[in-house]
Amino acid sequence: MGSIIEDEMFSSSVIKDLHALDFDYVPNELPHRTEQLKKLAQMFKPVVIDIAQNAFIRGPVGTGKTAMTKHFCQSLVQIARKQGKIIEYIHINCRKRSTSAMVLLGVLNHFDSRFPDRGFSVQEMLQVLRTHLQRKEAQLLLVLDEVDALLKKDGSNLIYDLTRFNDETMKTTTPVSVIMISQKDVFTDLEAAALSTFKRSNVVVLEKYTRDELYDIVRQRVSLAFHANTVLAESVDLIADIASEFGDARFSIELLWKAGMYADEKHAKQVVPEHVRAAKAETFTIVTETKLKNLGKHQLLTLLSIAKRLQKEGSAYANTGEVEKTYAITCEEYTEEARAHTMFWNYLKEIEQAGFIKVKPSGKGQVGSSQLISLPDIPAEVLRGKLEELLT
Ligand SMILES: Nc1ncnc2c1ncn2[C@@H]1O[C@H](COP(=O)(O)OP(=O)(O)OP(=O)(O)O)[C@@H](O)[C@H]1O
Ligand SMILES: [Mg+2]
Repeated sequence: MGSIIEDEMFSSSVIKDLHALDFDYVPNELPHRTEQLKKLAQMFKPVVIDIAQNAFIRGPVGTGKTAMTKHFCQSLVQIARKQGKIIEYIHINCRKRSTSAMVLLGVLNHFDSRFPDRGFSVQEMLQVLRTHLQRKEAQLLLVLDEVDALLKKDGSNLIYDLTRFNDETMKTTTPVSVIMISQKDVFTDLEAAALSTFKRSNVVVLEKYTRDELYDIVRQRVSLAFHANTVLAESVDLIADIASEFGDARFSIELLWKAGMYADEKHAKQVVPEHVRAAKAETFTIVTETKLKNLGKHQLLTLLSIAKRLQKEGSAYANTGEVEKTYAITCEEYTEEARAHTMFWNYLKEIEQAGFIKVKPSGKGQVGSSQLISLPDIPAEVLRGKLEELLT
């Protein structure tokens, strides 16, 4: 038994650096966030001459808010250091620390890991912070990530207190800059006092990633985390297709990671589209069975033909022409009369509307009706099994 486990643990892997697939890993380059980083750099120019700045970063899930901010702040610290200035950068997740006291405790632990976690009021902790900054002659760059959790639980007093720091300590070269991050607009949640100290124009909005942007992000992650030539380009294509529905980079990286694990499990040398489909199926457990029962017989036969083709070729896409041929054969197997071309196309449309397949133009300059079908939700093998069960 022991040796089976040992064999499995030391069996070769397509993944060369698992760490690069962690959710909190920040790559050195962030594709498609250059403009936003430039905008931040413009906003924070004053910081290198010791004037505090504030900013708010907003965007939907997985659009790179946290990654981009970390990347920016780390760079800013380096740049300031070259100018002989010390910036203490602290990144607090307010979902985990959702009161002013807990945030401040996190901040103070950065300076002194033994700072007691009870017994000090917020005002006292602010005073301790001030002392630390003055002693170090440092600026503070504080990121309040998922700040809506703090605002909801504790209001905006802390933001006000921190930004007010600057008026009082202006001459001591210890300005405090605050970057707030949230999925939703939080300006409406700030009380007037806090709002008055916050520059409303300092906002960076991140949009959902497009399909092609996700493609680049996944490709970068492939080169960081996988051995050379272990991930087929078609697999990257398929991941980008699937994740484009949400525009969420985290989801695309999760799919890549799971597909890699799946390939390893199967002792495959490469991550192929079938592994990606398996990864998605695992992610989306709300599966298909009930939806399949709502399809008619010929829709099921059409879907089965698609599953067969994808399984056989092991590729990301099946060509509609090929699928139609397979459909004719499948109908024969089930002693059904194959329906005419236009009906077949209707079936395809219905299956697509039901969310089983994605259809896109073949894009190879082919004129006419040929299109590419992909099966984003479920491995062809699994789908085929379910369909054959239903059809007998
Ligand atoms: N432009 C990018 N290039 C490379 N990786 C990216 C990019 N944008 C996001 N990522 C990666 O995607 C994942 C999610 O990004 P991040 O955590 O920054 O999202 P977020 O906007 O903070 O989401 P949430 O609202 O859920 O906190 C991370 O692993 C991050 O490294
Ligand atoms: Mg985040």
